[in-house]
Amino acid sequence: MTALEGKHIVLGVCGGIAAYKAAELVRLYKKAGAHVRVLMTPHAHRFVTPLTLGTLSEEEVHTEIFPPNEKGSWTRHVEIGLWADIMVVAPATAQTVAKLADGTCDSMLTAVALSRRCPLLVCPAMDHDMYMHAATQGNMDTLRHRGDIVMEAAHGELASGLVGEGRLPEPADIVNTTIRVLTEAAPRRSGPLAGQALTVTAGPTREPIDPVRFISNHSSGTMGFAIAETAARLGAEVTLISGPVALPTPAGVARRVDVETTADMHEAVLARGADDVIIMVAAVADYTPASASTRKIKKDGHGLALELVPTVDILADLGSRKQRHQRLIGFALETHDGLENARGKLARKNLDWIVLNILGEEGAGFGAGTNKVTILGADGSTVKLPVLPKAEVAAAIVHHTLLGV
Ligand SMILES: Cc1cc2nc3c(=O)[nH]c(=O)nc-3n(C[C@H](O)[C@H](O)[C@H](O)COP(=O)(O)O)c2cc1C
Repeated sequence: MTALEGKHIVLGVCGGIAAYKAAELVRLYKKAGAHVRVLMTPHAHRFVTPLTLGTLSEEEVHTEIFPPNEKGSWTRHVEIGLWADIMVVAPATAQTVAKLADGTCDSMLTAVALSRRCPLLVCPAMDHDMYMHAATQGNMDTLRHRGDIVMEAAHGELASGLVGEGRLPEPADIVNTTIRVLTEAAPRRSGPLAGQALTVTAGPTREPIDPVRFISNHSSGTMGFAIAETAARLGAEVTLISGPVALPTPAGVARRVDVETTADMHEAVLARGADDVIIMVAAVADYTPASASTRKIKKDGHGLALELVPTVDILADLGSRKQRHQRLIGFALETHDGLENARGKLARKNLDWIVLNILGEEGAGFGAGTNKVTILGADGSTVKLPVLPKAEVAAAIVHHTLLGV
């Protein structure tokens, strides 16, 4: 396993002659096991195609802040910023270095640079005189004072024919610096769960019917967020994958990934598929429309029949892939025959624990500040908890399942 395995890297590519080297950088990151999303400035398109970088990264390349059609997510810059473990700008032109220094927000690259919560690594590449200019040097100093990492440009022959400082550092050196920054940035965690990577899913999912309507449920995300917070406090490196909720990221959570549909959540969870613990708290939709209309469905005075098809069973999929070191915890929300149904689900999906909520019991369920759960173990154990505030329920679940207390 390499130091970049499973890491989320946002690579910003600017309009400089060295942009072609971004392709090699993406290849090296991917080879090291990282997930890469590329953002290009509009001028970068003049030097290298989004098709090349999109193909190598296996992700859509973004340039504009505004979505290309009405359907797109206008908060994508926030989502990408939160997704990233590190943002690398390579090559960084004099123009973009200036924008990063003064906080200009006029493209997806500069918007993500402002909304990210991760370290920023800037790799300048330009002609020698542009690089040495007091304005450029001052902008790089501003970034360094702010805590961003700016690599020194390499010395050598430049595209202009001049020789001097200004070359993009070698892609392999950028990869090594990326590893160093990520290692230093990882906060030292202490506590009984230190050293464990843990993923929690939370909230509902949304299955689109047409551009304005969807099928969803009442999940508020509170329970999953409380579990993420507890696990982070106990030292785990927590990834929180959340459906649409109105909750801030809890303190100590290493990364948050926001998703909409069950299929998106499945993909996000699989990206964390090697984590030591996966806790599926999300109230995932079991059915999705067979096809979503691209246009708003008009009212015509008649009934409307929606054909629904099953969504992917994320828990069952995780259970079938479970590795020896992993623990898998599911949640079951039942309205009747709770214990029996939960036991069945525990066995069928190869879980280690299942947490049962019974809807309709006083103090339990969606939105309420409290919850009442029963924790069932694959070892046959059953622990019934009284009605407690959700933060205390979260603490009890984490302590009981992961620490055995
Ligand atoms: C052929 C050519 C090569 C260029 N190479 C560089 C370069 O290596 N570094 C740089 O800072 N600007 C370079 N520029 C200028 C940038 O393309 C220009 O400043 C542009 O506004 C950068 O926009 P961006 O940072 O948003 O991509 C070059 C321009 C041309 C026409």
